[in-house]
Amino acid sequence: MKILVAGGAGYIGSHTVKELIREGFDVVIFDNFSTGKKELIVGGEVVIGDLMDKKSIKKVFSSKKIEAVLHFASLIQVGESYLNPQKYYTHNLISSLNLLETMLESGAKNFIFSSSAAVYGIPEKIPIPESHPLNPFNPYGQTKFFIENILQDYKKAYGLKFISLRYFNAAGADPEGRLGEMHDPETHLIPNILLFLLGKKKSFELYGTDFATPDGTAIRDYIHVTDLAKAHVLALKKILASPQSEFINLGANKGSSVLEVIKKTEEITGRKVPHKERPRRKGDVPVLLASKEKAEKILGWKLRYSSLETIIDTAWSWHSKNVKLKA
Ligand SMILES: NC(=O)c1ccc[n+]([C@@H]2O[C@H](COP(=O)([O-])OP(=O)(O)OC[C@H]3O[C@@H](n4cnc5c(N)ncnc54)[C@H](O)[C@@H]3O)[C@@H](O)[C@H]2O)c1
Repeated sequence: MKILVAGGAGYIGSHTVKELIREGFDVVIFDNFSTGKKELIVGGEVVIGDLMDKKSIKKVFSSKKIEAVLHFASLIQVGESYLNPQKYYTHNLISSLNLLETMLESGAKNFIFSSSAAVYGIPEKIPIPESHPLNPFNPYGQTKFFIENILQDYKKAYGLKFISLRYFNAAGADPEGRLGEMHDPETHLIPNILLFLLGKKKSFELYGTDFATPDGTAIRDYIHVTDLAKAHVLALKKILASPQSEFINLGANKGSSVLEVIKKTEEITGRKVPHKERPRRKGDVPVLLASKEKAEKILGWKLRYSSLETIIDTAWSWHSKNVKLKA
């Protein structure tokens, strides 16, 4: 049985490929390497292709028996999506539609989708349950919301089965040191602090110190990328065995503020993190926390690596060895 991992050369996709191979799945990675990296390939067959090009994806399905698809391949920068929404709507929707069309033509009906906490918008309730109203307010989050709606319609009309995993803040690196986070440009908090400490960024800026939180900085739910990867394996096993489709949060229901992240990084690295305080960014909310009850109940998911300590420790270990890989 072959499993197609679209975007398997990226940050979360590569960690998931590693776990899938460990569990004995036969993996085909489909990636255009727009943000993916050859250094993040640990195994599996690699097909270089673009989901925007229907022919290249159809070629894979006509030559291989694909049972299930994990879809990580998307544009991911929230800030850029405000400036260039056309790029986000066009890419994220058409690439997903092409992939779904090809799957259905070939009879593959099992789909695991990388969704995001961005589908919820401003939380009305913390921790956020999956039943929370969906009000995405940035174009990136809208693309995830639209794809989730498409999945529900395709389920009703074509019998597609799906699990849409709504990640909160993915962070950390492979505890065995082989894989890590290397976005370019990097917009995530922890790698940005580490890149600054390693001399790859001139300054580190802290956005927002007047939120209604105990220390005034924004609180986020950081989830270790290996815990995320393991949730994908559980979701894949679930979908192969059950007719049920689901929307499931992947978060730790544990928050860390930006200042707590800075303090923990200082403890782990033994270095000071001087920072420049800047106003809040558009759309930033004070607190985002996931309810993880559903993931525990439906997937049997247990967190192993998601303490702030382990997240920063594994990320620091990887970044300090791989800083040369960064652009
Ligand atoms: N990183 C996070 O904290 C986070 C949070 C919520 C949701 N997500 C979602 O998780 C998924 C993976 O995120 P990531 O951080 O690993 O991003 P990433 O940029 O590291 O990985 C994306 C991968 O998809 C590939 N890709 C992009 N467009 C493609 C196309 N048209 N055809 C083929 N391959 C293509 C890229 O080359 C890359 O390998 C995304 O869908 C993202 O929206 C991420």
